[in-house]
Amino acid sequence: MSSIFDEIVDRKNTDSLKWDCCKQRFGREDILPMWVADMDFKSPSVITEAIIRRAEHGVFGYTEVSEELTAALTGWMKKRHGWQIDDRWLVFSPSVVTSVNTAILAYTNPGDKVLLQTPIYYPFYSSIKDNERQLVTNSLRNNNGYFEIDFEDLERKLADNVKIMIFCSPHNPIGRVWKIHELKEVLRLCKKYNVILVSDEIHSDLVFSGHKHIPVSSLAEKDFDKCITLVSPTKTFNIAGLSVSAAIIPDTELRRKFRSFINKSGTGLLNIFGLEAAKAAYTNGEEWLEELLVYLEGNLNVLEEYFKKNIPQIKVIRPEATYLVWLDCKELPVPAEKLKDFFVNQAGVGLNDGLIFGQEGYGFQRLNFACPKALLSEGLERIKNAVQKLNK
Ligand SMILES: Cc1ncc(COP(=O)(O)O)c(C=O)c1O
Repeated sequence: MSSIFDEIVDRKNTDSLKWDCCKQRFGREDILPMWVADMDFKSPSVITEAIIRRAEHGVFGYTEVSEELTAALTGWMKKRHGWQIDDRWLVFSPSVVTSVNTAILAYTNPGDKVLLQTPIYYPFYSSIKDNERQLVTNSLRNNNGYFEIDFEDLERKLADNVKIMIFCSPHNPIGRVWKIHELKEVLRLCKKYNVILVSDEIHSDLVFSGHKHIPVSSLAEKDFDKCITLVSPTKTFNIAGLSVSAAIIPDTELRRKFRSFINKSGTGLLNIFGLEAAKAAYTNGEEWLEELLVYLEGNLNVLEEYFKKNIPQIKVIRPEATYLVWLDCKELPVPAEKLKDFFVNQAGVGLNDGLIFGQEGYGFQRLNFACPKALLSEGLERIKNAVQKLNK
């Protein structure tokens, strides 16, 4: 059965980071880009229509977040994630990375320790380094392809004067949806050592069947208020170019500080089209999202089967959420340092090299499967052909 997501949209010449910067990023034009986390699908028509309606108004002055948007977002959190938030807890910002930087600046001083669970989404490293804070890592444990938190190590690290833990839930790149007992343990440790928990939940709407995302802060409200949650419609509805996100901060003092740093950096003024898109998405985007999730899970099944059958040297770490898959390439007869070159120059696909996510990414690559099935098949075939040549 065909799907709206089967449509191949030509994204070249749209100033797309993924499609128009191949030469710059990978050294050649002719690769199939399967890297940065946006999707090769059109956003839901409810978003496009809302943007066109707003554009037709013709006046684009300063903006303010509307009550409709806060109601749409709080309604979404309640309906999709069972979390009743108060609209006073919301602080909007242009992006989740802006909010991570803001939290670091607002709650820590230069030299303070910030903890990451690695491998992890690479811009967080820059957030820590560029702001002159000290990086502390808690490596996730790979138990035969299933990643888990090493709580003993986490406790040891948090106990040693860590100020902020940046939590990625669901986790990019290993794709875990953390279970309730894991979330409770993270909270218990943050509370015990007085660590502020910054939970990046940007992938929380993109969860596959059999798994349930629980906002960590929803478990914490009563006994621990040092928790801030970062959400955004940009991954869910493929609108990263519209720059809109929100921080959910129940604690008044943490919220005041966060807002004051947003104001200081001048990032509090939001883009009209981002706000319109977010409102439309959270109000009317659910049906589209349900269809998208079915399509993405179908792609994941195709991909997993394909690797098992045709490229068994590459092990798929099946994600429980996100449209990003972590590929264990350690059995390929290619040194880890040469994997990037192999995928670009032999296979002709642009992936994210595992090492950018931290040293735990040694021997891994990250592949984005949010594309029409025909493109996915093309990418998989390119990889198979290159691996077959290696084996000859
Ligand atoms: C875990 C995670 N956080 C944040 C982002 C980026 O969010 P934003 O564009 O809102 O900064 C991404 C994008 O891939 C991500 O995977």
